[in-house]
Amino acid sequence: MSILVTGGAGFIGSHTCLELLSAGYDTIILDNFCNSKRESINRVEEITGKKVKVYDCDIRDKAGLDKVFAENSIDAVIHFAGLKAVGESVSKPLEYYDNNIGGTVKLCEAMRDAGCKKIVFSSSATVYGAENQSPLREDMPEGKTTNPYGTTKLYIERVLKDTFASDNEWSICLLRYFNPIGAHKSGRIGEDPKGIPNNLVPYIAQVAVGKRDHLNIYGNDYNTPDGTGVRDYIHVVDLALGHIKAVEKIMGEKGCFIYNLGTGVGYSVLDVVKAFEKACGHSIKYEFAPRRAGDLDTCYSDPSKALRELGWKAERGIEEMCEDSWRWQSSNPDGYC
Ligand code: NAD
Ligand code: UFG
Repeated sequence: MSILVTGGAGFIGSHTCLELLSAGYDTIILDNFCNSKRESINRVEEITGKKVKVYDCDIRDKAGLDKVFAENSIDAVIHFAGLKAVGESVSKPLEYYDNNIGGTVKLCEAMRDAGCKKIVFSSSATVYGAENQSPLREDMPEGKTTNPYGTTKLYIERVLKDTFASDNEWSICLLRYFNPIGAHKSGRIGEDPKGIPNNLVPYIAQVAVGKRDHLNIYGNDYNTPDGTGVRDYIHVVDLALGHIKAVEKIMGEKGCFIYNLGTGVGYSVLDVVKAFEKACGHSIKYEFAPRRAGDLDTCYSDPSKALRELGWKAERGIEEMCEDSWRWQSSNPDGYC
């Protein structure tokens, strides 16, 4: 069975390709490398001992997409390609709407034209907005998004739901990720942010390895047990395995399905700092700073629907997530270079 993975060279995509190859799927990557390097794919090939076909192509390039579908017999698509920096999306909304929404529309057109109507999409917990109380469930109404990045996720979910409503031959899985962190056990692939990391764990990892002086903790007066923000961190390998289950689901059934992929457990920023200190064996310097605009106090999932319907459950805890992040960061202090 052949799976096309858009954005397959990125953080979550590379881990998912590794698990796809290990499970015996033929894997084709399409990426424009705007936020990744080919080296991640070389390393996936090195770990699995299998070859991946790679297309350097933009999801907005319809002719390019048509060529990929014409040259391969693709059974399903896992769609990771997209821009993901919340802050950047506020200053460059048009780029985000064009790349993420425009690109997804082009991808779906190419899929329809090729007769491939099975897709797994990378959505986000951000679609629940601030209105819903954690634990967040898939049957809760979508909330108001607070930035253009989040709005792209909400609108793409609508585009895909409408696509299914118009043609029930489609099989669509919307996966709402919580906070993916960690890295593959080998320490060979991991998250390689460009410039200053926006997200907590890549930032902590760079402080731990000596690339940054200290962590700024955004807010210590939230309504949480220790005053710092609480999130549902999920190991990227558990997340990758959730995609395999989602592919199995859409191969067997038509419909438009939505699943949270999280652990169901919330950890505060200070909990994560402590777990990382244990993993790296030394203390992490931090300072309290003002709240970051748009942040919520608490966000965690109810992951029971994915267990019930996909037979998927996150198995790796916060200590393993931090150990694996640290192994990746300490053995690749400058990322893929
Ligand atoms: P990433 O930036 O590491 O990977 C995205 C990949 O898509 C990159 O390789 C990039 O080069 C590629 N890409 C971007 N625009 C493209 C285009 N127009 N054409 C072709 N390729 C393109 O990000 P990630 O963390 O691996 O996230 C993957 C997906 O999961 C994204 O859609 C992201 O929004 C979503 N997501 C991520 C998180 C998270 O915290 N990492 C949380 C929720 C959802
Ligand atoms: N934080 C810090 N210091 C930092 C970075 C983060 O204190 O340098 C805190 C944040 O305030 C928050 C927690 O660490 O309390 C987690 O922040 P992240 O930026 O790692 O993650 P978010 O929960 O803010 O964002 C993630 C994804 C987004 C997605 C959002 C909602 O990165 O793509 O979840 O689903 F939109």
